[in-house]
Amino acid sequence: MSADLTRSPAWLALKQHAAQVGGRHLRELFAADPQRGEQLVIEGVGLYLDYAKQRVNADTMDLLRQLAEARGVRQRTAAMFAGERINTTENRAVLHVALRAPAGEKILFDGHDVVADVHAVLERMAAFSEQVRDGSWRGHTGKRIRNVVSIGIGGSDLGPVMAYEALRDFSQRDMVFRFVSNVDGTDFAEAVRDLDAAETLFIVCSKTFTTLETLSNAQAARQWAVQALGAEGANENQAVAKHFVAVSTNAKEVAKFGIDTANMFGFWDWVGGRYSMESAIGLSTMLAIGPTHFRDMLAGFHAMDVHFRDTPFERNLPVTMALLGIWNTNFLGAATVAVLPYEQYLKRFPAYLQQLTMESNGKSVTVDGQTVDYATGPIYWGEPGTNGQHSFYQLIHQGTRLVPCDFIGFGKTRNPVGDQHDLLIANLIAQGEALAFGKSADEVRAEGTAEALVAHRTFDGNRPSSTLLAAELTPFALGSLIALYEHSVFVQGVIWGIDSFDQWGVELGKQLAKATIAELTAAQLPALAHDSSTNALIRRYRQLREG
Ligand code: F6P
Repeated sequence: MSADLTRSPAWLALKQHAAQVGGRHLRELFAADPQRGEQLVIEGVGLYLDYAKQRVNADTMDLLRQLAEARGVRQRTAAMFAGERINTTENRAVLHVALRAPAGEKILFDGHDVVADVHAVLERMAAFSEQVRDGSWRGHTGKRIRNVVSIGIGGSDLGPVMAYEALRDFSQRDMVFRFVSNVDGTDFAEAVRDLDAAETLFIVCSKTFTTLETLSNAQAARQWAVQALGAEGANENQAVAKHFVAVSTNAKEVAKFGIDTANMFGFWDWVGGRYSMESAIGLSTMLAIGPTHFRDMLAGFHAMDVHFRDTPFERNLPVTMALLGIWNTNFLGAATVAVLPYEQYLKRFPAYLQQLTMESNGKSVTVDGQTVDYATGPIYWGEPGTNGQHSFYQLIHQGTRLVPCDFIGFGKTRNPVGDQHDLLIANLIAQGEALAFGKSADEVRAEGTAEALVAHRTFDGNRPSSTLLAAELTPFALGSLIALYEHSVFVQGVIWGIDSFDQWGVELGKQLAKATIAELTAAQLPALAHDSSTNALIRRYRQLREG
């Protein structure tokens, strides 16, 4: 499979093309085509993607699209939408698109319409959310719920945190929302230290309900709540029933933990953790923004699903973003992508994308187990603008590495403060321009710069970026933006021939940690059989802990 890709005619054609045009400077590409800024642009679902500042021309895009065709992107997309078990290493279907399909649409999995199931859960979530938001759901002592603490990790946390931050301006402002993920007790302690347990609802989110971090934090939450409510003993279950709900696919483990399954919101095996924020895992989002806004967000996801499924590759946003990523990664040698939202509400978007992109495409074997001989998923990272400009942009502008950037901005701000939004977007636009065109030594000299400083003040340029613009950050826009990246990751995974929906790479560390816990906590230091470094760290930790 791996050799299939790098020996395929489409790949070889791109390699040859890269040798011819890959080194051409963006200044040249723009000079050769004055219309470039209007031509290398696509729009859909309210998003405007300008990729003119990527180091591609029309031929590059044609060849990349041929690669996508040859790798079966169309067929794999159809298979995903049809509920086929495309996550082959886990023998699972991948049907997050069903989570946002409108009521009445049918998607069959094993002959069963899953969209009806999705909407049944959405309705239960909406009824519960309304009860909590309007105060009719009361805590154990009769007080209304004012605080919601969502406990989960990875896909059971990053989406809800990101969405809450992104849509905070749509949220019920007299309620407090907190998120606990880390097994570090500080995360939990700081989240609850100023909360009244009588007004606090915990949502325990875990697909498997076996995740160490989440179960440890849920246990801590239970002890904290029961104690603070004075509900130890006979009243404990009643208190837990009023202050704990679970979101999971595993009713048995939920019941074992002590949460009544009447207070459980389900989802399904065919929803991957990092693709689950619009399932019941998003209950905290719905509690924050209300069912109507939540449905608007689902509509945004769905609109992008339809766009992705039905739009020809030339005008297809996720396909185009994916292909630009393939070009930068495999033909220009970039190892990373910086995601730079010029929108404070998207401050957690890069962290969310890190799991989406890197847990999905951080693989080095193909679906049939062959080691790849090409690069796969790049490293995603980022910070909201303009903060990054005063930090790591130096390296992007003048360092030795190629760092393709995704700039994200909006026409309107939800918080107009003087002319600050124009200042913000001026910076976004200027950064893309500076990265692409730089400043030549002659231009620097013409400014009267001393010769000794000319090299330092020269910018080579030719650093690629894409810019995504939308009207305003609404629930709909957020949904479409997330789905854009989801499908882009999928298309890249298909081209690389990897399984974008498993995550075996997280298992080894988990297994080793289990063994290590016993060695750290045993009363007497047991015989250690690790390597000398690991043995020494265990001994040193025990000394520090006791000292
Ligand atoms: O980190 C591995 C992982 O399995 C993620 O894929 C998942 O999102 C996370 O753990 C949490 O899993 P769960 O929802 O089962 O607690």
